[in-house]
Amino acid sequence: MKSAIYPGTFDPMTYGHLDIIKRAANIFDELVVAVLDNKDKTPLFSVDERVNILKEATKDLNNVKIESFGGLLIDYCMSKKIYVVVRGLRAVTDFEYELQMSQMNRKLSNHKVDTIFLNTSLKYSYLSSSSVKQIAQFNGDLSAFVPDYVAERLRMRFGHNNKE
Ligand code: PNS
Repeated sequence: MKSAIYPGTFDPMTYGHLDIIKRAANIFDELVVAVLDNKDKTPLFSVDERVNILKEATKDLNNVKIESFGGLLIDYCMSKKIYVVVRGLRAVTDFEYELQMSQMNRKLSNHKVDTIFLNTSLKYSYLSSSSVKQIAQFNGDLSAFVPDYVAERLRMRFGHNNKE
């Protein structure tokens, strides 16, 4: 069985992430979406909230599992015995950081863990969790970027409780 891990912060998950999840789930027998539980950063959503959003979004995808991890990604990969990491590339601006991370993970894992990149579908190439949070902060329209239940959580988090 060929498995892969799709790691990220997912604060919150967007349609861009979901696009990568669905396409990776078609390539691999099993896809583990791994949500980073980073104690140094203060995400908008707790790790449990981020995991629950992803679980809701992927409930119809039978070969997708949602988990969280802390520490180094390669330690998590080793503990799961999964040696392929999937990352999305939106534009050339993502490339440098992603290349560095993939080389570092390959080195740290003694060449065991490889990263493969899926280019994000063009219609989501401009989309990021940070821009979604900014739009939510000012109660902008989120319908093209995240599912309704994510938009609702964002509105609540920023105190825009009613969908005017
Ligand atoms: O969604 P993001 O924030 O771009 O995801 C980044 C993530 C979680 C994949 C990356 O920060 C990560 O793997 N963090 C775990 C710590 C680690 O292994 N760092 C070494 C990589 S160079």
